Amino acid sequence: MRHLLDTKTLSHADALRILDVAEDMAGTQQREVKKLPTLRGKTVVNLFFEDSTRTRISFEAAAKRLSADVINFSAKGSSVSKGESLQDTAQTLQAMGADAVVIRHGASGAPRTLATSGWISAGVVNAGDGTHEHPTQALLDAYTIRKRRFGPDSRGRDLAGVRVTIVGDILHSRVARSNVWLLHTLGAEVTLVAPPTLVPQDVSLWPARVLFDLDEAVAAAPDALMMLRIQLERMNAAYFPTEREYSRRWGLDAGRLSSLGADSIVMHPGPMNRGLEISAEAADSARSTVLEQVTNGVSVRMAVLYLLLAGSAGESEDGR
Ligand code: CP
Repeated sequence: MRHLLDTKTLSHADALRILDVAEDMAGTQQREVKKLPTLRGKTVVNLFFEDSTRTRISFEAAAKRLSADVINFSAKGSSVSKGESLQDTAQTLQAMGADAVVIRHGASGAPRTLATSGWISAGVVNAGDGTHEHPTQALLDAYTIRKRRFGPDSRGRDLAGVRVTIVGDILHSRVARSNVWLLHTLGAEVTLVAPPTLVPQDVSLWPARVLFDLDEAVAAAPDALMMLRIQLERMNAAYFPTEREYSRRWGLDAGRLSSLGADSIVMHPGPMNRGLEISAEAADSARSTVLEQVTNGVSVRMAVLYLLLAGSAGESEDGR
């Protein structure tokens, strides 16, 4: 794997390989092997132009557990505020010896530009770009669903027939896009639920069915109900119902939580707006995998960094 830019073009074989290597990585952590020497001498740069808690810290933890050196760059407080371009910023970090660049950027397509422009030779991982994709989030979500469904040793298994319902601000969500493509590739059946104004115009081209009524979706007893954060900061052009109306019609409250099937899990990528898209009862319930997702994120990101920087076998023709 040369880069990880999206899940739309990730093959079934490559997706399973990442999930299986993540399972190996989790196994080493469970055996209390705190550090693997695999990436000793390599440098991973976390290049974050947008805020992050989970993704940035988990890439840092993943790189360190593989013995890589880590450079954390945050646009806030950097020369980006003086007008320095993405090209100059990336080339400066490359000159410091970056072998992999993990980038989060507000512009959809920025990671692909970095990977294909020839500005740098490092491998590029998309850590979330605009409203486009967030591939490692989808991979850790798929990993979490697989583990819950098939148990701790689920190597080689995909998600054929698993029913996943994604609820909320689909319009602005890179998490939803990455999940739809990856879950479809892995054989899951995906349903999207949102107010009509928060559904993207091109949704008919996505491999998912669309509902507007959360109660109808809950009654269908999905295996996983994934609640999305309402991105109030991106709600400039879209019509948004009042927060009260949203939480009444599309929020996961205690009543809907109790209507879910016995084995259904409740997911959220974080950060959560408690009381808006998800109630505290749901977020903290036994069904919730919110913190499990965070833990699994480290193993999945270890797998991605390992395959980018140390694993060359089985690479796709286009180098993805
Ligand atoms: N889920 C996620 O991307 O969280 P952060 O914005 O905290 O990284």
